[in-house]
Amino acid sequence: MSLAQIGVTGLAVMGRNLARNFARNGFTVAVHNRSPQKMTSLLADHGTEGDFVGCESLEDFVAALERPRKIVIMVQAGAATDAVIDSLVPLLDEGDIIVDAGNAHFPDTRRREADLKAKGLHFVGCGVSGGEEGALLGPSIMPGGPAESYETLGPILEKISAKVDGVPCCTHVGPDGAGHFVKMVHNGIEYADMQLIGEAYQVLRDALDLTPSEIGDIFAEWNDGDLESFLIEITAEVLKQVDAKTGKPLVDVIADQAGQKGTGRWTVQSALDLGVPVTGIAEATFARAISSQLAQREAARDVLSASTGDWHITNREGFIEDVRLALYASKVVAYAQGFDQIQAASAEFDWSVDRGAMARIWRGGCIIRAQFLNRITEAYERDSDLATLLVDPYFSDILCGGVGAWRRIVSQAALTGVPTPAFSSSLAYYDALRSERLPAALIQGQRDFFGAHTYKRVDAEGTFHTLWSGDRSEVEA
Ligand code: 6PG
Repeated sequence: MSLAQIGVTGLAVMGRNLARNFARNGFTVAVHNRSPQKMTSLLADHGTEGDFVGCESLEDFVAALERPRKIVIMVQAGAATDAVIDSLVPLLDEGDIIVDAGNAHFPDTRRREADLKAKGLHFVGCGVSGGEEGALLGPSIMPGGPAESYETLGPILEKISAKVDGVPCCTHVGPDGAGHFVKMVHNGIEYADMQLIGEAYQVLRDALDLTPSEIGDIFAEWNDGDLESFLIEITAEVLKQVDAKTGKPLVDVIADQAGQKGTGRWTVQSALDLGVPVTGIAEATFARAISSQLAQREAARDVLSASTGDWHITNREGFIEDVRLALYASKVVAYAQGFDQIQAASAEFDWSVDRGAMARIWRGGCIIRAQFLNRITEAYERDSDLATLLVDPYFSDILCGGVGAWRRIVSQAALTGVPTPAFSSSLAYYDALRSERLPAALIQGQRDFFGAHTYKRVDAEGTFHTLWSGDRSEVEA
């Protein structure tokens, strides 16, 4: 039996499908699971799809692999991942590679990579996006870790990744935790994208009194244009789905409390540490939290008055186009903020992440895959040092062309009581970036008044403080 080029341990759906993807692409795959039953059922169900080496023990699993061994771990993030690493390390030799393909928190990945490097082993924190189907048919793959390990690992991952225009949706993201960081930001952008779609849906439903299926048709139409994306596509499907049990639209019988496994929260926490205003991602994460505050919502429902106006829509098609433009503009802001966060982390952790390459590998396979990512790739090809995506000519045209619609939708939603936290915070971000003067000047004055925290002047170098409790003269700090 020839030795396996790659091994997968952890054969729940994602791990199982990744193993099948490797096998279908001609690699001999060693497969292992803590409970052997998942391994035997994989071989029973899909053993004919390629060359699998079923291994009951971790020792057999390691022995089945060619050197340098390449082992993909696909288990729960956190302690379970550490446990598998700890059991593997004694069995491995210098230069072997452990790939963590779960949604691990990037600080954990940085720790693990440093620990294993000290033992002569390579640790690759690898973002994999696309869900179960992506894992099987071709995900977007975001491997971090040593550039050296990508030399042997990269060709295998690129072979199984999604392809767009023949280009793999996989590249070496950067050292240590860079891969898991970029995957985390991918998920944060996913949250923002889903929230923005949800707000567009709510506005259309409230304003035009449309059925979910009619709104699904609108999204399907939008999916033929600039907003073409996996999330818009599946939104149309979800909105058209009828609940078999009640005959009602499925979306009307789903409880309106959004779950979150944590990657969006990590993105916002990291952005706060980095000082990057990811307002779209943050509002999307908080919107999920608000949706689950059932006691507060129950208490507020009868107490907090709506005192709303009416939508006064005279031009239905024009209104729908306004919503589309507001959605697109807000989406541009959310993605721009995500790429800003990647750049800030890249500088903070010395990763040298290529933002254009990240947009390129997100064009296919991942949950946020979209035509739009071609435009972002092109923007960074035009200028890899863009201060913000918003000032790229393509995107500034969209924003300047859509800002009137954006203002109309945000203001009308406010007047009629439809919450649009992501739409409105994105518009506020746009206005803050383009404003000549911000109220931060007053905040500096307040801070200096109560804390003598000093301030800069617009007309002089240096740092100043006003003697608020004295003669209120200004002194150089
Ligand atoms: C992906 C998905 C995947 C997972 C989400 C869901 O890129 O394939 O993002 O990672 O389905 O993380 O996360 P939430 O439960 O936080 O929405």
